[in-house]
Amino acid sequence: MTRPLYEMFNTVPRHYDLLNKLMTLGLDKKWRNKAAQACLTHSPESVLDICCGTGDLAHTVSLVKDTNTKIYALDYSRLMLDIAVQKTELLVDKPSLIIGDASQLPFQDESFDCVGISFAFRNLTYRNPRISDHLAEIFRIIKSGGRFVIVESSQPKSSLIRKLFHIYLRFYVAKIGAFISGNKGAYNYLAESAMRFYKPDEIKEILMQAGFSRVDYEPLFFGAAGIQIAVK
Ligand SMILES: C[S@@+](CC[C@H](N)C(=O)[O-])C[C@H]1O[C@@H](n2cnc3c(N)ncnc32)[C@H](O)[C@@H]1O
Repeated sequence: MTRPLYEMFNTVPRHYDLLNKLMTLGLDKKWRNKAAQACLTHSPESVLDICCGTGDLAHTVSLVKDTNTKIYALDYSRLMLDIAVQKTELLVDKPSLIIGDASQLPFQDESFDCVGISFAFRNLTYRNPRISDHLAEIFRIIKSGGRFVIVESSQPKSSLIRKLFHIYLRFYVAKIGAFISGNKGAYNYLAESAMRFYKPDEIKEILMQAGFSRVDYEPLFFGAAGIQIAVK
């Protein structure tokens, strides 16, 4: 477990959802919806929302699915999961919530048709000493032919838009996050890691190195975010 990140995610949950909305200008819901649709392509029997936080991706998948798909959601922060429990309470078909670490997943090989991750791939990969463990574990638990769906902040292709996006991260996201949550370090990390995060081609390379056979990318909002779909 990478301690500083773990501690950070145990201090921000109370403000997490509000800040997500403020920082993505309310677009996070639409983007998770797209990711949920991508998770449900080919009518999977099982989907895991990994690093689920307060459970929004699992919640969205549960709402839009029209099959018997079984949904699971995992996170290592007990406080985040407590909120996920409250948020999914009223669903008829509730996701199974599991506490666990992405570097040592409590599942057998090839357990899932799809693993989805929203706004946490950066945490698992960017300057994370456990990057190889995380990717190996995710690859291990996906069935052959299954999918890994990632929705994450990205780097706009146009240098002008990229500059504007970085200004927005530094002067809006970092400041408003620190002000509302009282945790300057957490939102500085968020803004800095988003500014320096990999470009889509680099993520494709990382995923191919991890063993995936194909990776498709769809930019969202001028490339400030994007969806990657990797096939095992
Ligand atoms: C930025 S939040 C994203 C939460 C959620 N997926 C969303 O869309 O809002 C990152 C989440 O990843 C979790 N996380 C980070 N590293 C993890 C790890 N190694 N194992 C399990 N959960 C992890 C954190 O606890 C946190 O809830």
